[in-house]
Amino acid sequence: MRVSIVGTGYVGLVTGVCLAERGHDVLCVDVDPVKVDMINSARAPIHEKGLPELLSRNCGHRLRACTDLADAVAATDLTFIAVGTPAAQGRIDLRHVERAALEIGAALKEKERYHAVIVKSTVIPGTTIGLVRTALQNASGKIAGDGFGLGMNPEFLTEGTAVADFSQPDRLVLGAIDARTHDVLRELYEQFDAGIPRIITNPSTAEMIKYASNAVLATMISFSNEIARLCTAVGGIDAIDVMRGVHEAAYFTARRADETITAGITSFLEPGCGFGGSCLPKDVTALIGQGREHGLDLGLLRSVLDINRTQADEVMRLIGRHFDSLNDLPVAVLGIAFKPDTGDVRESPAFPLIRRLKARGARITAFDPVAHPHEHEELSGVTLAGSLHEAVAGAQIVVLVTRWAEFSNLAGILQTLARQPLVVDGRRMLDPWAFDTYEGIGR
Ligand code: UGA
Repeated sequence: MRVSIVGTGYVGLVTGVCLAERGHDVLCVDVDPVKVDMINSARAPIHEKGLPELLSRNCGHRLRACTDLADAVAATDLTFIAVGTPAAQGRIDLRHVERAALEIGAALKEKERYHAVIVKSTVIPGTTIGLVRTALQNASGKIAGDGFGLGMNPEFLTEGTAVADFSQPDRLVLGAIDARTHDVLRELYEQFDAGIPRIITNPSTAEMIKYASNAVLATMISFSNEIARLCTAVGGIDAIDVMRGVHEAAYFTARRADETITAGITSFLEPGCGFGGSCLPKDVTALIGQGREHGLDLGLLRSVLDINRTQADEVMRLIGRHFDSLNDLPVAVLGIAFKPDTGDVRESPAFPLIRRLKARGARITAFDPVAHPHEHEELSGVTLAGSLHEAVAGAQIVVLVTRWAEFSNLAGILQTLARQPLVVDGRRMLDPWAFDTYEGIGR
């Protein structure tokens, strides 16, 4: 199938590259000519495992990029909208989606052949059949479901494993307003394993599936962090052991004669320094905003964000057990990426912590194996170290924020130093007994 994709962020680019790998002809469209050039010369604009290989295999052959959306619509049978949907002032900002829909609509006006428009961006329920349909219809002069097809097909990929997630998805959610668009979506994913569950539904349900999926993950994390806070306050309870005990329930861990299967969700049921990234905080915020517009107070989800917002205070409390003043104290922050295996720092849990440390006058050195956001405003006044060793040398406090595998060597590196710092383990990935002074979230 000939597919065009508007937006070459994580979702758009990974979708494009993986569909090309499956044999589709893909045209990626982006307003940024630098990104377009990079894609056309098979250079990955983002750090994502497997992406460079797939790019070089498909570039200039089944995958191309351009800046002209009208040309892309004319040359393809289906267009995905995969532009960003940031949260602004507590609501989702759909301006990029609307602009893309208007431009696609204008191109559809000139096109005679049937064309399907599929929303892939994460949008609040009702957006596809509301704002997107209206924009497409107004700009094209055609009726959705008749003059063109309209659908919603959310993406569930996780940064760091995006290529693998797209290639072997756990589910395919195919929402459309008409049978022909459902057929197009079925055909698009025909080559994917027949065993993958396909949820055939309407666009608004598809949109809500995406939000509910992320909201439950965020809720699990904040739940674990709230329990961990109580464990710390009561004393003598380790939240990690508590959660291990919870994980062993048959709801989470299934035991058969010869194997034990632990549900992936258990990793979200572990205390830590909170969630970040471009999806969980934004999506929960957007849901709360939509609730408000409908006169509903989504109190549970508000608490999920409140707990997350204040999780850095837990780290500060642990530091406070050992230091009254942080003024001019050298502190190493390990991890700037919002999670391991990505260079993405959006909404990283490192930032609220760095803000608090700065406010207390600490001298901060940060290190991340992949993310090097030198110009980031949150990092003004922060020294960026080139290695783990350089980051911790001279530090009196070391705070581990991101679960990078490389940080499991911390004890060995500290042993080479004359003075041992306080280690605060924000991800509970270190052996407490390997350090002179150790504190861990929920311990
Ligand atoms: C998330 C979802 O996991 C994906 O299923 C979804 O498709 C994606 O959003 C999206 O909407 O596009 P992602 O933001 O890439 O994926 O990353 P996660 O692995 O979910 O991590 C989000 C945050 O939660 C990170 O800050 C991470 O450190 C934190 N987290 C994650 C935990 O605190 N504990 C965990 O067990 C997992």
